[in-house]
Amino acid sequence: MKKITVLAGDGIGPEIMNSAIAVLQAAAPKYEQEFQFDSQPFGGAGIEDSGKGLPSKTLASCQNADAILLGAIGGGVNSSWEKAEQTPEQGLLALRKALNLFANIRPISVPDALLALSPIKKEIVKGTDFIVVRELTSGIYFGKPRELQKTAAFDTCYYTETEITRIAHQAFQIAQNRNKKVTSVDKANVLATSKLWRKVVTAVSKEYPDCTLEHQLVDSCAMRIVQQPTTFDVIVTENLFGDILSDEASVLPGTLGVLPSASHSEKGVSLYEPIHGSAPDIAGQNIANPASMILSAALMLRQSFNEEKMAQAIEAAVFAVINEGIVTADLGGNAKTTEFTAAVINKIKA
Ligand code: NAD
Ligand code: IPM
Ligand code: MN
Repeated sequence: MKKITVLAGDGIGPEIMNSAIAVLQAAAPKYEQEFQFDSQPFGGAGIEDSGKGLPSKTLASCQNADAILLGAIGGGVNSSWEKAEQTPEQGLLALRKALNLFANIRPISVPDALLALSPIKKEIVKGTDFIVVRELTSGIYFGKPRELQKTAAFDTCYYTETEITRIAHQAFQIAQNRNKKVTSVDKANVLATSKLWRKVVTAVSKEYPDCTLEHQLVDSCAMRIVQQPTTFDVIVTENLFGDILSDEASVLPGTLGVLPSASHSEKGVSLYEPIHGSAPDIAGQNIANPASMILSAALMLRQSFNEEKMAQAIEAAVFAVINEGIVTADLGGNAKTTEFTAAVINKIKA
């Protein structure tokens, strides 16, 4: 029996979470797996429940779980939740920090099922398959001091050698099981933190003589992601650059709605969530693409529970359904969230 803490969150979060849970439950008997789901309020839902983005009972459940599934949080920058003592976004950052989830793995691929749906030319995106390894618990998101004054404001970007070393090791270890190529992305022509980043990643690379390391500045990397996406294997980068570059990379498969992620600590529970947000613009309409959440659940099966076959079956079902043209509005179709989910479940049971 696997204990999974479920943080459905806000906006489309609960809609796509329902899909992922339905898929897990449908697949479980075939793979003799049992799940116990513990739903907890988080984000805006946490504020409604107990005034904070991350209520203490929610954190306690996460700490006791075998894995965590997170939908998405937030109500947008103008939401009344942004006035809470701890906003949804602060709750998310607090959860990542409390669980030490420093390694955020964001796989970006364009399976053949999505080739025709990508806004980028087929010959450019065909074969795209890389992983963004995003540092998740430091950098400008957490550095102090930070202050919003009346007519000025500042944030601090702060990285230690230890923090850069551990994320670099993650990237090289992932690369060793792939095409052995790491692209480290920074802004070392300007930023002190990036100069340290480059030095430390270079030092770590010496322990991985079977891998190659290249450095690239973040601005030109942003361009290369859409122009030559097949030239990447593993990208390792700091928190903010990883956030931005991975959303940019969602243009390759054609939508944020198909991109999952996994967040790991050194030891301890891992968290699985789509890379996108709560999509307030489409919430409550049963039109969100649940693939990102279903594929996040598949990552959980593979990386936390070692259920490779079950993970593969779910991934294959998702892409087979897309290939048949059953797609949600973000990919130009008119399938509802629940229709797409039902089609995936039919494939798994077939
Ligand atoms: P967003 O990712 O929520 O949405 C960006 C665009 O992508 C929107 O047009 C949306 O409709 C679309 N989209 C996203 N996911 C989709 C899906 N599964 N299916 C179909 N379309 C999808 O980004 P935003 O609008 O800038 O942010 C909205 C809120 O989400 C903010 O409060 C932000 O802080 C929060 N957010 C939370 C997370 C998280 O929970 N991990 C991640 C990113 C943003
Ligand atoms: C993400 C989100 C978060 C981030 C926000 C909501 C704090 O954009 O998970 O990518 O910037 O990390
Ligand atoms: Mn983001």
